Amino acid sequence: MRLQEIRELVRVARPDAPSGLKRLARVVNIEDLRRLARRRLPVGVQGYLEGGAEDEVTLRRNRAAFNEFEIVPRVLRDVHEIDVSTTVLNTAMALPFALAPIGSPRLFHHDGELASARAAGRAQIPFSLSSSGTVSIERIAESSPGPHWYQLYVWRDRALCEELLERARNNGYQALLVTADSAVRSKRERDLHTGMTVPSPTLSASSLLDGALHPEWSWHFLTKEAIRFANLASLKSPPKVGMEKLARSFDGLTTWADLEWIAAAWKGPWALKGVMNLEDAKRAVDLGATAIVVSNHGGRQLDHQPAALEVLPRIVEAVGDQVEVLFDSGIRRGSDLMMALALGARACLIGRAHLYGLAAAGEAGVSRAIDILADELRIAMALSGAASLAELNPSLIEHRATRSRS
Ligand SMILES: Cc1cc2nc3c(=O)[nH]c(=O)nc-3n(C[C@H](O)[C@H](O)[C@H](O)COP(=O)(O)O)c2cc1C
Repeated sequence: MRLQEIRELVRVARPDAPSGLKRLARVVNIEDLRRLARRRLPVGVQGYLEGGAEDEVTLRRNRAAFNEFEIVPRVLRDVHEIDVSTTVLNTAMALPFALAPIGSPRLFHHDGELASARAAGRAQIPFSLSSSGTVSIERIAESSPGPHWYQLYVWRDRALCEELLERARNNGYQALLVTADSAVRSKRERDLHTGMTVPSPTLSASSLLDGALHPEWSWHFLTKEAIRFANLASLKSPPKVGMEKLARSFDGLTTWADLEWIAAAWKGPWALKGVMNLEDAKRAVDLGATAIVVSNHGGRQLDHQPAALEVLPRIVEAVGDQVEVLFDSGIRRGSDLMMALALGARACLIGRAHLYGLAAAGEAGVSRAIDILADELRIAMALSGAASLAELNPSLIEHRATRSRS
């Protein structure tokens, strides 16, 4: 049976799906969104969303680290009004977090990045579009108010990178994130076991069965625009290798020297994303980065790295006065955000937490995820006696290991 015939069959047998908003009625935290997402998504897609590299040691560490730090609150302070607005990478933000760049978001919901960018725009926080995105730079700019950031994977073909940067700049993207932790494709074994491929699952007996067990997802997959790497497909002079191969072939030869021409080509604020080593943080400062993102890619690249939260304090201590330090990997709660901010992060990126919302209910789901994190952050700050981000500092946080020694 050909794909077109399957599309026809599914078009006729469309299941009656509850609306996104109805589905969200009982959602009170990110874990609730995750449960809804798991119900909607085929197993292969779930694995792509949730999975980490190899034994997933770093993936687990990222979450576990938040239990190793403790909030030691101050009381009886005036927390009548909590101000969580900030400016990062020259971008004014109503909340101290942005949506992290994500490859192939249309796998999680047919509206993909359009839904996330609109929800981010409504909350006045940045939406980051990935180089491996499934909606074009231009369409995001047309259909959501911003702010927008663009994330670049560096390919050997400079002209290609420069074209993408030019398009992002001409379309008003305010900052650039250069992802440094993905020199080669990592080994994500959930995807290898399920046969999951990006940007779109390959048809096989098992992916067809998986799809049949998730009819609502399959209906959208089969009836909406095909999922593709939208920016690579719309290049002026597309390279000769296939799009999928190109999107996967990050240039293992990218080095520090490339950052110089990237920064020169971009001409605006930029961050190096995926910094875990102090020496790399210092080098990024020397190269004039506006920001660094302390991140291990949510445990998806090199396994056995420390939790990103564990390395944050020492990087902040070394370079925090010379560069904006952003943080991601493992945030699922407003209290997680508060800990990272108190340990010196200027703002955070939110990965899977917003994707659970996207998969659960599209734009409404992403908005719910943002609201949950924002409300929880305000509560944690008020109960810790901090009325503004400036009042968050390391004196509010203790590491369990340090405390048990003292
Ligand atoms: C499904 C998925 C796809 C991702 N794709 C990209 C990408 O294309 N570019 C990038 O720089 N980071 C990518 N990341 C990493 C995120 O930007 C972010 O660093 C990570 O998700 C943070 O960890 P968290 O999910 O625990 O919040 C991806 C993460 C996930 C979960």
